[in-house]
Amino acid sequence: ARKLIIDCDPGIDDSLALMLAAASKELDLVGITTVSGNVPASMGAKNALKILSMIGKPDVPVYVGEETPLVRDYVDAMDTHGMDGLGESGWPDAEGLTPNKDAVSFLIETLKATPDVTILALGPMTNLAKVISRAPECLTNLTALVSMGGSYKSHGNCSPVAEYNYWCDPDAAAEVFRAFSELPQLAGKKLHMIGLDVTRKIVLTPNLVEYMKCVNPGVGTRIEELTRFYFDFHWKQEKVIGCVINDPLAAAYLVDPSLCSGFDAYTQVETGGLCIGQTVVDAMNFYQKAPNSHILTQVDVRRFFLMFFERVLGVPQEESAP
Ligand code: BDR
Ligand code: CA
Repeated sequence: ARKLIIDCDPGIDDSLALMLAAASKELDLVGITTVSGNVPASMGAKNALKILSMIGKPDVPVYVGEETPLVRDYVDAMDTHGMDGLGESGWPDAEGLTPNKDAVSFLIETLKATPDVTILALGPMTNLAKVISRAPECLTNLTALVSMGGSYKSHGNCSPVAEYNYWCDPDAAAEVFRAFSELPQLAGKKLHMIGLDVTRKIVLTPNLVEYMKCVNPGVGTRIEELTRFYFDFHWKQEKVIGCVINDPLAAAYLVDPSLCSGFDAYTQVETGGLCIGQTVVDAMNFYQKAPNSHILTQVDVRRFFLMFFERVLGVPQEESAP
């Protein structure tokens, strides 16, 4: 199995991604690091422990990461994820589990000690930017980075052009993309960008929640509690019944890259002004630069949901599933 660290900000959809990754034998989850994003990093770490304890994986260590973006003032997303980051589900703290400090050191030490580490970034990339500036040599052991963030042609969710994770810490995102272009340790590797072009198609609807409750009442009910706030937010904000769950698609892509397709390109992130946080994807190769990213633009939504249900609910899915 692939050695994996999930860097995240749980977060309703981060929690769904953790459930999917933890239920996937192809992935060996060696640690979870948190960053300030949807909620402050320390709250995110407590939430990660709640999820781990709920799914029976209390041994996975959790590390609290950076509390503020590199340059910008921190803006949380509690309006979307609730004051507790878990949709105000009221779940108690994980008994007997406490988070560790210093996610950046954990990332550096793990990368130094372990050949072939994959990182799944589901929040702002502040921790990763710190790893790059403090210990670029450890990146030789980074096999792949899959990042949920950005958008190519799709509109943003924080501004007309910017997606939340990259908008929250644009300087960190810019630094990580730059590293994939410039650092010898990352030569030939690409940042796989699972942006809003693909995640926006992953819409959880009330009937899918009902289906999950029928198939596995325990897990289905937890997911209902977790996502209720998210459904309400989408209704108030956009008058749509259903919520976009971004992060689990990035976890699913790690397990089976054939779920999404896209193209290689040189990408930069805007760090100031009107377009702050925008991913500028040079699809036409104006800059004549070698690609530093793989931009995913197409997704097989049905196969994603079949994978999610099968693994998270623990019940094989038939083609007849909704
Ligand atoms: C991303 O921002 C967060 O609100 C979600 O958890 C996801 O990672 C979507 O823009
Ligand atoms: Ca997230």
